[in-house]
Amino acid sequence: MTLYHSASQMLTLAGGPRRGLTMHDLAIIENGAILVKDDKIVDLGPTPAMREKYPPEPSYDLQNKVILPGFVDPHTHIVWAGERAMEFEMRLAGKTYMDIMNAGGGILSTVKATRSASFEELTQVTEQRLKRIFANGTTTIEAKTGYGLDIDTEIKMLQVLLHLDQKLPIDIAITFMGAHATPPEYNKNGTPDYDAYTQYQIKQVLPAIKTWWQANASPRPLPFVDVFCEKGAFTLAQSRQILTTAKELGFPLKIHVDEFENLGGATLAAQLDATSSDHMVKTSDTDIHTLAQSETVAVGLPGTPFGLAHTEYTPAKKLIEANAYLALATDCNPGTSWCEDMTFILALACRQMKMTPPQTITAATINAAKA
Ligand code: NIG
Ligand code: FE
Repeated sequence: MTLYHSASQMLTLAGGPRRGLTMHDLAIIENGAILVKDDKIVDLGPTPAMREKYPPEPSYDLQNKVILPGFVDPHTHIVWAGERAMEFEMRLAGKTYMDIMNAGGGILSTVKATRSASFEELTQVTEQRLKRIFANGTTTIEAKTGYGLDIDTEIKMLQVLLHLDQKLPIDIAITFMGAHATPPEYNKNGTPDYDAYTQYQIKQVLPAIKTWWQANASPRPLPFVDVFCEKGAFTLAQSRQILTTAKELGFPLKIHVDEFENLGGATLAAQLDATSSDHMVKTSDTDIHTLAQSETVAVGLPGTPFGLAHTEYTPAKKLIEANAYLALATDCNPGTSWCEDMTFILALACRQMKMTPPQTITAATINAAKA
């Protein structure tokens, strides 16, 4: 056992996830100490009391340092092949994110590259990303599929994540996102047929993923199911169909809402008891109020408006005043947010979402864990 002691402050975040104004309370122990055994914290408290309790332990002095939980990053798309640097220039020249996606770029360009990458290639690039993310202080990360959009590639992405969760010290919470976009094979007269693809997700893909998971990943609980609910992607009705089916099959839920337009997705998230409702940029006051009455966590992704050079961010103040659970994440992905560092997200949240530093720490640790 080792006693790490004399930290100027220890941010324990004791008491569980925090809503609204209680987010500022980090449950700080001044002059804190932790006792570690087999890589696990087995006791903690103020240094004098801990020294008295464990006098003979080898010890390590943390003077002038702070102890805080590892960051939890509850929304990422870290498994991808290829790159989309050109799109940044296209957007600077005036094209929107959705223009580029509907012209076959965006998510679909990453789908093409990810479909052709082998399991080994995809594992290698993802492993490098995860190692950098871990070095930046993130100890648990959520990661989505959604760059396959066919069963084989989506399963390849799940395999990469299951493999790396075993191999690396970082913990990975996995999300299946077959409903990220509609793939080229579902185009009708040159336009994506979201209705047909929604039916395919409901009738074939979700049951197949459940069967595959139970045969290959058990006893791990089922992954989350997420949908991109947005004008130009899945409508509110299609999102409801997919998420309702997923819920009936026993999957926990997440949803991308109001990144560009308000479709009412946050209210849907609350109605379906989704674990989280993410992006939340264009969310209406009514949706905020409904979400705040639920257990669903609002996840702000300030790296995304930053990456897209937009000026509008998740209305953190309104969410906090409404007493919602608020978390923060990187949204790390090749199209909108090339960010592997939660500390940058916290800094952005202070500047652009007007959150206080303690609120961002809560949002990136205990509330992110709830998400
Ligand atoms: O959360 N908006 C949908 N999905 C991602 C972007 C993914 C991509 O562009 O590759 C997001 O911003
Ligand atoms: Fe996302």
